[in-house]
Amino acid sequence: MEITNQHAALLCSPGMGHIIPVLELGKRLVTHQNFTVTIFVVPLHTSKAESELLDASAFPHSLDIIKLPSPDISGLVEPDAVVVTRLTEMMRQVRPTFRAALHDMINFRHRCPTMLIVDLFGTESLPIAEEFGIPKYVYIASNAWFLSVMIYSPTLDEQVKGKFVDLKDPLEIPGCRKLFPELDIVDALLDWSNQQYDEHMLMGRGIPKGDGILINIWEELEPKSLAALRDENFLGRFVKVPIFPIGPLMRPNVSSIPRGDVFDWLDKQPNETVIYVSFGSGGALSYEQMVELAWGLEMSQQRFVWVIRPPIISSANETFFTAGNHNGEDDNLTKYLPKGFMGRTKDIGFVIPLWAPQVDVLAHPSVGGFLTHCGWNSTLESITNGVPMIAWPLYAEQRLNATLLTEELGVAVRSKIPPWKNVVKREEIEEMVRKIMEGEEGFALRDRAKNLKFSGAKALEQGGSSYDALSLFTKHANMFVQFANGVDPSSQVP
Ligand SMILES: *[C@@H]1O[C@H](CO)[C@@H](O)[C@H](O)[C@H]1NC(C)=O
Ligand SMILES: *[C@@H]1O[C@H](CO)[C@@H](O)[C@H](O)[C@H]1NC(C)=O
Ligand SMILES: *[C@@H]1O[C@H](CO)[C@@H](O)[C@H](O)[C@H]1NC(C)=O
Ligand SMILES: *[C@@H]1O[C@H](CO)[C@@H](O)[C@H](O)[C@H]1NC(C)=O
Ligand SMILES: *[C@@H]1O[C@H](CO)[C@@H](O)[C@H](O)[C@H]1NC(C)=O
Ligand SMILES: *[C@@H]1O[C@H](CO)[C@@H](O)[C@H](O)[C@H]1NC(C)=O
Repeated sequence: MEITNQHAALLCSPGMGHIIPVLELGKRLVTHQNFTVTIFVVPLHTSKAESELLDASAFPHSLDIIKLPSPDISGLVEPDAVVVTRLTEMMRQVRPTFRAALHDMINFRHRCPTMLIVDLFGTESLPIAEEFGIPKYVYIASNAWFLSVMIYSPTLDEQVKGKFVDLKDPLEIPGCRKLFPELDIVDALLDWSNQQYDEHMLMGRGIPKGDGILINIWEELEPKSLAALRDENFLGRFVKVPIFPIGPLMRPNVSSIPRGDVFDWLDKQPNETVIYVSFGSGGALSYEQMVELAWGLEMSQQRFVWVIRPPIISSANETFFTAGNHNGEDDNLTKYLPKGFMGRTKDIGFVIPLWAPQVDVLAHPSVGGFLTHCGWNSTLESITNGVPMIAWPLYAEQRLNATLLTEELGVAVRSKIPPWKNVVKREEIEEMVRKIMEGEEGFALRDRAKNLKFSGAKALEQGGSSYDALSLFTKHANMFVQFANGVDPSSQVP
């Protein structure tokens, strides 16, 4: 391991899905590159799971977590503003506090950050690094395809006359697969009138302003999109800075928690016969959809583990901010399921209210499929365990993930009509479940998922692509340190 005196300040936006990958990056910088790290988080008031995650006792000595007070944005966004709008506004308003916290760290703790790393929602804080004279990076806790769409959005905005949603033809992103507006475009781009459209454009312009981009994939996962991003004839025109694919970084398994009944049950099932059904920490279904899903699972006669949440009353964006608050103890969730469902499926199914230790479940040999909302952390957890998926995006960016999984990586199936448009009917659910759990197509999907599992594991090992990319990133950052000390970095380019 190289000796560095790098101290990275990481700025992290709210939400489990954002905090987990940043934490994992922080840990890896500590353990593999000998960094010291301070992570600045803006917690949501509502999330108990989040507080548990941030309980610092479990972290290496060189990793500090500083919680910034959540700014009050109630007067700044419409009461019904969507998640993206609220998050970007929070991260915008937190800037003065963040700057002050950096000063405090230097003045009172004598720890000087040597670099700033922000996540997708933090790009407006990049100029703060300039005030401190340190290099700045953007960490995309997602994939290269998403990065491509983000980076190219401002150009699309200029090119396309009229609304994306009205386009008849797919959109060309240079060097990438075509995007079909209906299926692939994130909510934000479909609605100009909404503030989140502008927020996306700002992020798209903000990302390339870092001195480099870290991304939570590995080189071998998306070679084509990465090549396009680095080629000046394609997307490289818009990104002049190096891209470091350093993933897949994921939560380690939480073996300290009691394994519980679900594992006793899984232990008794044959290998690769159980489909795991979960929509992540912020996801919920409509009541009608929940009922169809129950019937679909039952009709498929495949084994399942289903993490159920109460159906949504308002909308998915609302549950993002209230998830974790829900008090499951006094609410028997099986009341939302069809009459007799629990009895009829008692031999093939296991229903868990609210939360399951997902990483461990996906790693269990009995689990052979995952019905997922396509959040990127869930997706990575599935791929790195070699488990094929039913892609069931609930909102926003998740639909891009769904396309990537089905069409580019070939490790998932999805419904004909997207779940965010229409209730997916029981017959189609039955068919999809059967498709990934048995039959030819299922084997092919599983094969590809397993190949990706091995290539991801290899990338992280010494000499693997992500291992090397993280070393290169450190070298890149070191050049700035030397430059600050009067050494010309151009003489040092690796
Ligand atoms: C959630 O988002 C939808 C559009 O995606 C919007 O119509 C709705 O008003 C939002 N609701 C809340 C409570 O944020
Ligand atoms: C099931 O999977 C486990 C772990 O991969 C393996 O050790 C075991 O041999 C498998 N069992 C059967 C019956 O194939
Ligand atoms: C990511 O991790 C959380 C926390 O364990 C988990 O509950 C969830 O299913 C995953 N997905 C997202 C999008 O947060
Ligand atoms: C929940 O309700 C179902 C059916 O109403 C019942 O069979 C089950 O025992 C209840 N579970 C708990 C934990 O109370
Ligand atoms: C979790 O850790 C245990 C013990 O170290 C190991 O046997 C198991 O394979 C791990 N599971 C995952 C999710 O990697
Ligand atoms: C996948 O979904 C997550 C939200 O759960 C998002 O953060 C990520 O950027 C998405 N990736 C793509 C390719 O859309």
